[in-house]
Amino acid sequence: MPAVSASAPGKVILFGEHAVVYGQPAIAAPVTGVNVRVIVQANPLQPAGSIEIESPALSFHATRAELPEQHPLNTLFQQIEQYLRISRLPAMKIRINSTLPAGAGMGSSAAVSVALIRAISRYLGFPLENEQVNQIAYEVEKAFHGTPSGIDNTVITYQMPIFFVRNQPPQLIHLKEPLTLVIANAGEAPSTAQMVAGVRLRWQQYPQRYEQLFQRIGAIVQSARQILEFGSWQQLAPLMEENHRLLQEIGVSSPALDKLVEVSLRCGAYGAKLTGGGGGGNIICLIQPEEAEQVSQQLLNHGALHTWLTTLIPTEEGNQQ
Ligand code: PMV
Repeated sequence: MPAVSASAPGKVILFGEHAVVYGQPAIAAPVTGVNVRVIVQANPLQPAGSIEIESPALSFHATRAELPEQHPLNTLFQQIEQYLRISRLPAMKIRINSTLPAGAGMGSSAAVSVALIRAISRYLGFPLENEQVNQIAYEVEKAFHGTPSGIDNTVITYQMPIFFVRNQPPQLIHLKEPLTLVIANAGEAPSTAQMVAGVRLRWQQYPQRYEQLFQRIGAIVQSARQILEFGSWQQLAPLMEENHRLLQEIGVSSPALDKLVEVSLRCGAYGAKLTGGGGGGNIICLIQPEEAEQVSQQLLNHGALHTWLTTLIPTEEGNQQ
């Protein structure tokens, strides 16, 4: 069998992180400038079921037999076997290449899952539909992260901006205009699971206050959706600032994130906010494309460890790579 490959992009959450865990909507978009690429090929000298996975980019090399039972990759292989109703995957050699930073809130684990599920199912001659890819990737995300909302695997599977409510089918957002963002990394963050657990503790302590904060974020997400579909991108700026303030109140920002938000606004960004789990990690800034270089440079001068530029382009459907 010839080698088969599949790719998956990164992602950013534009609005609604954390509140999404409590049933509020959120909006996320793919970041196509970074991706995970998986290549699957036969390993004819090995017995059925023997799978070798290697990824210099992720500093990972193992065989399926060596993986602990609870390992997310084991969940992934078992789920594919279940979906395709096969008792054992054939012997394969899998290579995972990635330009997506791990642990930076850009959806690295979900991108690895989606690219793997696509590549393996294509290799077997039974390419899975988006809905199935997404379901399997969600099971794997749970093995990775505990109780994720499912927004990462969904936006990465569909490769389109999405309006997402937990446990509901995603609604694709058709952008009216392109949107240019600089993503800047403020340094290491606690795991998303830790950040989500912290919010849960505070929510249990002050339920009314937190419910109110989540609802205010939900209202921002609804307005942002209208603007993305029917308005002009500059109108998103005050919503980003308001969303960031509410995330500060929820206790998931950090001095480093706040500083980068402030620097970007001072240097010409229209709006900025933290994105993802917070506590560190990334901010996103909304910018005029001509300002991108300049804003990136200023962010780097003021402590950002890395920046990425991404433009979301209006498209009818996501490109499956
Ligand atoms: O750090 P990220 O991008 O994986 O963000 C997770 C988003 C949260 O809302 C904080 C958690 C979730 O599962 O939705």
